[in-house]
Amino acid sequence: MEAQRLIDDARDAAANSYSPYSHYRVGAVVVTPGGDEYRGCNIENAAYGASICAEANAITTAAAQGVREIDTVAVTCLDGDACSPCGNCRQIMREFNVRRVILTDHAGEPVEYALEELLPRSFGPEDLG
Ligand code: THU
Repeated sequence: MEAQRLIDDARDAAANSYSPYSHYRVGAVVVTPGGDEYRGCNIENAAYGASICAEANAITTAAAQGVREIDTVAVTCLDGDACSPCGNCRQIMREFNVRRVILTDHAGEPVEYALEELLPRSFGPEDLG
């Protein structure tokens, strides 16, 4: 199943997490409409507020390669039974029109959401005219 494979890849990405403060390793995989994939993990900082979430890392890595449209983001963590993107990451997803977000439930099974479910009535690029 594609969702499970993406979660497995997100787990692999989480293995590179730099999280000496929270010890909470998160990984994310971005999939473009054309099927290209980009990975990211959370990278923390001694100045805690400078830390970067896994989703933001994966999405900005894709954007730095020229990606401007994202179909799917899969996210999982190695140190908790379910993690859910923070508000800031949901907004970063919104910028690139993410359609589908794959998370894991408490049993580790993939669960799919529309971004609209995670960030209803959102503000996006069109709102600036
Ligand atoms: N974190 C993520 O990378 N993504 C999430 O979806 C939730 C939280 C990171 C931020 C921080 O490095 C650690 O998890 C604990 O909050």
